[in-house]
Amino acid sequence: MGNTVYLNGKFVPADEAAVSVFDHGLLYGDGIFETMRAYNGKIFMLSEHLDRLYRSAKDLELNMPWSPGELAEVLGRLVSLNGDNQYIRLTITRGPGPVGIDPRLCPEPTIVVFSKDITIDERLYREGARAVFVETPRNLAMAVRTDIKSLNFLNNILAKREVIRYGADEGFMLNYRGQVTEGTVSNVFMIRDNCVLTPSPACGLLEGITRVKVIEIAYRIGCQVEETVLFRQDLENAEEVFYTNSGSEVVPVVMLDNRPVGNGKPGRVTLKLLERYRDCTLAQD
Ligand SMILES: Cc1ncc(COP(=O)(O)O)c(C=O)c1O
Repeated sequence: MGNTVYLNGKFVPADEAAVSVFDHGLLYGDGIFETMRAYNGKIFMLSEHLDRLYRSAKDLELNMPWSPGELAEVLGRLVSLNGDNQYIRLTITRGPGPVGIDPRLCPEPTIVVFSKDITIDERLYREGARAVFVETPRNLAMAVRTDIKSLNFLNNILAKREVIRYGADEGFMLNYRGQVTEGTVSNVFMIRDNCVLTPSPACGLLEGITRVKVIEIAYRIGCQVEETVLFRQDLENAEEVFYTNSGSEVVPVVMLDNRPVGNGKPGRVTLKLLERYRDCTLAQD
């Protein structure tokens, strides 16, 4: 963990950073967050992360008294204090207020940014990951907005318990129609006939920043890309499967529900996408 935390306007030592027990983020999960990764001192796709943050805030009518430029400056300073290669989490909550879910009770949002050193398990990329389909269905998107990166992660945590029980690395979640949505903390992709397929946002998922970049790279390397409806059997019969997020980049899946994916090794297209993605992170493009 980096030593310094940004909390409500101040950079403070991590062990001194504390928020109110009356914070509505804590009491009701009323808030939003972003997780990002800094490479060589620069946060990759920062403006895309900030765009999503402000979109989420707007949808929740969350007061954002900072400009994107001010937030970028805070993030940049934290990286310079904590180290060049960091996992960074920015959290904004409705703030402290009297008990009760009325958002008007909280005049001042809380902002917290912390970071930690990135630890990369290269084995995951060399040997591939194990994924499972979990029984916990993904939140119904029209009931609990899956497109907002909110503090309400209970659905994902229920799924994560299953992932742990199976001894897997990631779990894929279906919506109430049995369509594949996303991983517990990632987006999911598969390859069929040199075509990159991924569930469409209409299936109910968070549109990951990494997902957007991977789609762009896939086009660039000459793949067809389809955002579509996928079922469990599609992934089970895929040539390749992988999942993405800002921290883990592009992770090849070699075992799905205890059966090998393709030839049971990280796939050719997946590894190409990973390589190109890493090129982009270094070039910050
Ligand atoms: C539910 C969910 N979907 C997708 C993602 C991937 O998002 P990103 O690529 O922006 O990290 C995450 C990341 O934490 C997530 O929690």
